Amino acid sequence: PYVVTDNCIRCKYTDCVEVCPVDCFYEGENMLVIHPDECIDCGVCEPECPAEAIFPDTEPGLEKWLKLNADYAKVWPNITQKKDALPEAAEFDGVPDKLDEHFS
Ligand code: SF4
Ligand code: F3S
Repeated sequence: PYVVTDNCIRCKYTDCVEVCPVDCFYEGENMLVIHPDECIDCGVCEPECPAEAIFPDTEPGLEKWLKLNADYAKVWPNITQKKDALPEAAEFDGVPDKLDEHFS
């Protein structure tokens, strides 16, 4: 599957949800995740993310993110329509390692 990673945190642009053919994005307060069992690996969401936060889980080092996506996709609500990005999106876009300090 594809996974949402660090740079979504505090940005949450939500362009990704509009293009997913199987509606497998789930919404937390500060980021979205992809349900790994629902994602069909089509890849169309990857280039849509302005924050470049989406990657295939075949890329090295994404185990932590695959687990986070899987865990939260079970408890967060589904999101299928684009909404406004978080107000602080521009400020947080590109800030490294947001998970530890800014994920909630
Ligand atoms: Fe949806 Fe395709 Fe992205 Fe998977 S790769 S989350 S199916 S748009
Ligand atoms: Fe996040 Fe990018 Fe979607 S910032 S909400 S993964 S468009």
